Amino acid sequence: MGTKEKNVIVDFEPLSRRALILPDKNMYELLINSGIFIRSLCGGLGTCGKCKILVQKGQNFLNQPTKIELDSFSKEELRKGWRLACQTRVSYDSLETLKDQNPPQFRVFLPEELLFEDFKILTSGLNKGVKIHPNIKKVFLRVEKPSLDKPFSDLERIQTAFKNSTNTIDISNFEIELNTLKKIPDVLREKKHEITLTLLNNRRIIDCEPGNTLNANFGVAIDIGTTTIVAYLINLNNGKTYGVASCLNPQTAFGEDVVSRITYSSGNQDGLNQLNSTLMKALNDLIKKVCNKANISASNVYEATVVGNSVMHHIFLSINPKYIGLSPYVPAFQHGMDINAEKLHLDISKQGNVFVLPVIAGYVGADTIGVMLSSQIDNEDSFTLALDVGTNGEIIIGNKDLLATGSCAAGSALEGAHISNGMRAATGAIDSITIDPKTFEVSYTTIKNKSPIGICGSGLIDCVAEMLKVNLISRSGTFNKTLLDNHRLIKTQKGVEFLITESSDPTHPITISQNDIREIQMAKGAFFSGTRIIMQYLREKHNYDGEISQIFLAGAFGNYINKENAKFIGMIPDIPNEFIYQIGNAAGIGAQNALLDTDLREKAHKLLNRTHYIEIAVEENFQKEFANAMYFPHMNLDLFPSLEEYKHIPKRY
Ligand code: FES
Repeated sequence: MGTKEKNVIVDFEPLSRRALILPDKNMYELLINSGIFIRSLCGGLGTCGKCKILVQKGQNFLNQPTKIELDSFSKEELRKGWRLACQTRVSYDSLETLKDQNPPQFRVFLPEELLFEDFKILTSGLNKGVKIHPNIKKVFLRVEKPSLDKPFSDLERIQTAFKNSTNTIDISNFEIELNTLKKIPDVLREKKHEITLTLLNNRRIIDCEPGNTLNANFGVAIDIGTTTIVAYLINLNNGKTYGVASCLNPQTAFGEDVVSRITYSSGNQDGLNQLNSTLMKALNDLIKKVCNKANISASNVYEATVVGNSVMHHIFLSINPKYIGLSPYVPAFQHGMDINAEKLHLDISKQGNVFVLPVIAGYVGADTIGVMLSSQIDNEDSFTLALDVGTNGEIIIGNKDLLATGSCAAGSALEGAHISNGMRAATGAIDSITIDPKTFEVSYTTIKNKSPIGICGSGLIDCVAEMLKVNLISRSGTFNKTLLDNHRLIKTQKGVEFLITESSDPTHPITISQNDIREIQMAKGAFFSGTRIIMQYLREKHNYDGEISQIFLAGAFGNYINKENAKFIGMIPDIPNEFIYQIGNAAGIGAQNALLDTDLREKAHKLLNRTHYIEIAVEENFQKEFANAMYFPHMNLDLFPSLEEYKHIPKRY
């Protein structure tokens, strides 16, 4: 088979949307055909220079840059993979050199400026409220001028003004940064001895500005996910969010998941440096972006709080995560830590503080502490299950008396990755599906009611649940052989696929394949078995004899999920819908809360100390539990007597 007949796959990030490119199409046409409309002025004519994309994988198998591209990008940008979508084609001649090997899977990153609002990453979530008790305070002072009869130093007069002011802060033991001290004489005289001091932790003066700048007091909460990064700019006086910016984690160019990032950074210091500098550049770009949006200076951002899984946490701090990847999978340290922003090369105030939240274990990181802080699971009377569905899956179970956690390798199928027509929850994603039990006709909805371009996690859960209900697939997940001649079951190179609908690309209908169903089974099985193993641990070791009576679903996936169907396929426990809450980007909200209320940092440490960690994958019965959990357990067997054989599948968590 020549390469022209081979499927050449392009993954568009951060949408996780996969498309097949044909020899006569450029990337711009592929995007439009796939229903992904991008901002351009010339409509693909190659004159506006707006359709900038970053090719992260497969650069060597593209056509040479055209004249307009040579004019639009520097050599360095071209080397990094920047191209214009309307000028970029796959070079089928270069693919021929691969002979019988499969062509590479191209990965193309679509920058935020290129995408319309609807395609952005989920950044919101349920905030249960937090008191405003920040680590940073600003103090405005009118300082007495020096005179020959009172020739006191600048600092002494500042201290006197402080004591005479209405501030309740005790500065008898204050500390001052040398850099701040250097600024004081000029700053003091710039606005007639009116000065604003910035205090960290009520003790350390980290900055000074002329005049009254009390309102310019900001912090940034950062959530570093394996796939996406979000930054929230927050006013520390009133708790208001002034801006949110997000991007794909550019480290995806070095590997999709944490294991490949560990491998990349473990070999040598260069790998770690590369991952760290890539991350820091992305973070600094986000900070710049939110500050520009809010029209404030980054020098008025005095503190950052950071959550992320343990590998992201280590890479952020330039600590090699290699031992997280080796049994017994321990992190370098767990406790939360304050670090000077300049030392980390984070572009906020030079003397600013960065608080990195604690991590629980190698595979349960500061993001889980963030989920705990924002969901306040530790205050619940009811025994609660919190699931954070992302590239990795974290499970927290407990209440005010008992807390346990573990992580499961849920993969990123529920975010659309590794699914032939999968994508993130964004405009045009099929987010709900029903199937007629007699005709197998499919009804679906899409996000924002736009033409379908792919299926997001909630649509995938629905699709699998509905196929199960109408007997299109068995409880083991295989297509029902007696229905193979039905017109909706189409045969392709990949085997049998169920046709959901035609798409805007006529050559590429939206289907679900056997392999896609397996991916969903593995993802839901990982959550099911992980939950059961943690519950077994709590029963055996802590004599807990209750059941889960409440569920918090965190992450973008949880926002759109059909709770009934998630229960039906056995992903979450079968409890009434009114006790299942969708809490959005809970890790990010946790970072925001820790930014606004310093007491929560202490609480984060208490949570770290009281939470039991279970290494799910090494538990004795894990393999058996996971294998069982791959089946679909919640079917009404009275309706399907032929499936009696699967009755042993556990229903209890
Ligand atoms: S769309 Fe205008 S240059 Fe590509």
